[in-house]
Amino acid sequence: MNDLFPARELLSVLLFAWLCFDQSGGSPAQAASPSNPVMVIPKPANLSLRPGSFALTRQTTIRHDGTPTAFDTALYLAEALRPATGFPLRVVRLKDGALPAGGIVLKQVARDAELGDEGYRLSVTPRNVAISAASSTGLFYGAQTLRQLLPAAVFAASKQSGVGWSIPAVEITDQPRCAWRGSLLDVARHFLPVEFLKKYIDLLALHKMNRLQLHLTDDQGWRLEIKKYPRLTQIGAFRKESPKKGDRKAGDGTPYGPFFYTQAQMRELAAYAQARHVTIVPEIEMPGHFLAALSAHPEFSCAGGPFEVRTRWGVEPNILCAGNDAAIAFAQDVLSEVIELFPSRFIHIGGDEAPKDRWKQCAKCQARINAEGLKDEHELQSYFVRRIDKFIASRGRRLIGWDEILEGGLAPGATVMSWRGIDGGIAAAKAGHDVVMSPTSHCYFDYAQAKGPGEPENIGGFLPLSTVYAYEPTPPGLPVDKRQHILGAQGNVWGEYLWTPADVEYFAYPRVAALAEVVWTPAEAKSYDDFLARLAVHLRRLDVLRVNYRKLTAKP
Ligand code: ACM
Ligand code: ZN
Repeated sequence: MNDLFPARELLSVLLFAWLCFDQSGGSPAQAASPSNPVMVIPKPANLSLRPGSFALTRQTTIRHDGTPTAFDTALYLAEALRPATGFPLRVVRLKDGALPAGGIVLKQVARDAELGDEGYRLSVTPRNVAISAASSTGLFYGAQTLRQLLPAAVFAASKQSGVGWSIPAVEITDQPRCAWRGSLLDVARHFLPVEFLKKYIDLLALHKMNRLQLHLTDDQGWRLEIKKYPRLTQIGAFRKESPKKGDRKAGDGTPYGPFFYTQAQMRELAAYAQARHVTIVPEIEMPGHFLAALSAHPEFSCAGGPFEVRTRWGVEPNILCAGNDAAIAFAQDVLSEVIELFPSRFIHIGGDEAPKDRWKQCAKCQARINAEGLKDEHELQSYFVRRIDKFIASRGRRLIGWDEILEGGLAPGATVMSWRGIDGGIAAAKAGHDVVMSPTSHCYFDYAQAKGPGEPENIGGFLPLSTVYAYEPTPPGLPVDKRQHILGAQGNVWGEYLWTPADVEYFAYPRVAALAEVVWTPAEAKSYDDFLARLAVHLRRLDVLRVNYRKLTAKP
């Protein structure tokens, strides 16, 4: 995509803006017809349009089969649809499996190949709506699709009058392509309020994304309360100043923080996410990107400090001392509390960009290299990650880290997040390790979305929507028997140049919508033109949800 909006995209936008006027405007919604197709993102695996539509009314009830699985989703759906419709949408238990007219029915069914762990069937006829799935996740995704079949006004927080709440008759059978459908937020560089994180999680759920990696610690800030080490937030959650907006080499002279999340807040957020079938993956960076921790505890560095929380972006040479058992115990203590807080099976330990200069000069690190028969400092990093891997595994969890953890040998239980291109991911998968693909080329959502001066200040790099959409997470050369190791992909919204929630939304959307289709929709069902057509409708939903996405028009 170049700076100017391509004519093809503009045409699609105009055409579908017109088509969806009836969907969200004041007049009754039109039933779907071939000229008004079903505009769901991510595109369902199998969908056929049927004649007619179902009208949601004041009398509609939401029925469940009595399983907790169906009951929970019934409550969620009723709560999701009530504000905009103003309908009571009573939740009632289904009697004898019958489908009475006027109902939305949620049922748990046996798992089969078409449903998998997270899939659903959604059948809409003029008489009723039925969602069935083998899991609560599947039912939840059926409910998400149903919301998108309604006029965009259904996403409003308050009662909308004059809208015809009609749902096109469809038969959908759907399940995700990838198990890991991730997004990363960097709350270390710029802190984000809990209320915004909740909104972001709701948006991920709308797009059937299921992982939110929180980058909780870095050189520029430590954002998570750790009970055993209160100095981490007393000292590490504050920095003297930040790079100046528009002149990044200079300081802005403005103290930042202290900003951090309490454990109570994170526990509550993890539950909030889980209820929306999103898992928060906590990331605690080590041994590099660790200066905020070392500013609170310089005794765990090689040289001893003193240090201050870093006030400029970039890679910091002072890192955790891998020759010091007390430093390793410190890292493990922190992870113990993290594991208690977050139910995620995967615990992210960062592992990227750890310069080895300090280790080369450190007597303890060199003694460790000798004692363990390690070849060099890369093998020392590998030694360190192996110890952390063993610790995390002993708590019943799995370690995941950036692809630098391959250097010096990969720890036995490690999963690799491949960011410096895809080669690290390929090497890890070939060695039988699981992989999440997140290459800068397709997944760095802090890069500019268009070239030229019209875009807000950013880290550099260029990643237009079309490139995100074109991403293929399974490397073509990967042997077939290794492909199951590619768990999925993740879009990273790094925060150096994102100051506010509005900035985060601008950089994340609509790219997250494109990535959602990469990781959900079967590759053969993808089409960028078709996506743009559906996106034109989808952006109206995001308008109603007050998301500050980047407009698909020419730059302002
Ligand atoms: C990274 O972007 N350093 C993982
Ligand atoms: Zn050392």
